[in-house]
Amino acid sequence: MHTVLFVDNDPQWIVRYQSVFSNSSQWDCFYAEDVLAAVDYLNYLDVDIIVTELQLPLFDGTQILEYVRKRYPRIIRLILTDHEKIEGYLDIVRLAHQFLRKAHSVDRIEEIVQNLYRLHRLVISRHARDMVSSMDSIPALPDAYYRLKAEIDRSEPSLRRVGAIVESDVGLSTTILKLINSSFFAIAEPVTTPSQAVTLLGAEVIKSLVVSSHLFSHFAEKETCDSVAEVMIHSKLVAGFVGEICAYHKVRKSVRETAVMAALLHDLGRLVFESSFHDKYGKAIGISSVTSESLSESERQVLGADHAEVGAYLLGLWGFQYRTVEAVAFHHAPSKCVSADNMLLSILHAADMFALERQERRINFGTEYMDRTYVDETIGLDRWDEWRSVCITYYERVWVPSMDSQGASE
Ligand SMILES: [Fe+2]
Ligand SMILES: [Fe+2]
Repeated sequence: MHTVLFVDNDPQWIVRYQSVFSNSSQWDCFYAEDVLAAVDYLNYLDVDIIVTELQLPLFDGTQILEYVRKRYPRIIRLILTDHEKIEGYLDIVRLAHQFLRKAHSVDRIEEIVQNLYRLHRLVISRHARDMVSSMDSIPALPDAYYRLKAEIDRSEPSLRRVGAIVESDVGLSTTILKLINSSFFAIAEPVTTPSQAVTLLGAEVIKSLVVSSHLFSHFAEKETCDSVAEVMIHSKLVAGFVGEICAYHKVRKSVRETAVMAALLHDLGRLVFESSFHDKYGKAIGISSVTSESLSESERQVLGADHAEVGAYLLGLWGFQYRTVEAVAFHHAPSKCVSADNMLLSILHAADMFALERQERRINFGTEYMDRTYVDETIGLDRWDEWRSVCITYYERVWVPSMDSQGASE
């Protein structure tokens, strides 16, 4: 049972919350009508999630979020408000892990809270959660991300409006066009406008490109560009391989979009380690390079958690789809995942291994470090080899010529 504290002075909303949450045995719910009452609850309850309205009497919702962030950093913080203009609220949004609109139905809100609850139940160690909570600054997602998310979450999202959001940000348009015309997507004709890019790739992939390019530049500012660039190139190669395997199996566009998104962000935890736990992470890399231990094993030994769970936890807090979070969490050890639908995870695990084989220049890398039980039981060695040859063909056709001509930076 997880404890949720709702802070709202609108009695109608309290009734709405009660109608959905109080009927479920999963939630232990408490309701506060102002900040002072919320602080009282926080002082004696072990709260897991706080959902607060921004506009409250006496003190507004930002004060309770600040208080929780400082005193109880482990509590997941959600804002729920009617306020339409997110732009003016960016600083406030950054106090929360997620920003929701009251225009959503209560069922949708329950689904979002449910995803956060499932995130806790994933095999993500308490240590990983504490590491993320202890970070000095969790990077805030860009304004464009919130606007894209709001559009995609509408009942009838429009690709035209998604294109307009990208076009309204010159830096973002340039980044997206540079990426889409790079080797990564292997698109035959040059793409010249953000709207074309949105139509070709889909809104979800554009959203993930916005996040990944923002995060890579955020971490590049803090850390040596070399290590960030290395993760970025690797992530793009994995995304390219994922796209090829999806095309090979003609998987549904929505699955492909989710898979590419997961691939672009699958090693986000490595960037977190680089920026916030630099010395220990360096030690973990050192151990794995001189022993037969995988990087994940060394990370768990030195840092107490691996980059897969730390990255997954952060994505979950930001409200990424549960399937994406799950695939990122288990990309090194898919057999630990209990979910029934494993296609996305299978493809990501394989693509990651094949990319490391190419980048480490060790032909047997994938065979050494793949999740053998999972590959035998779920994918099958024949299919694994088929996928590998699909990826090698893509690598030699698209990636190698681009490395030769552009120094692998595109
Ligand atoms: Fe990884
Ligand atoms: Fe990776």
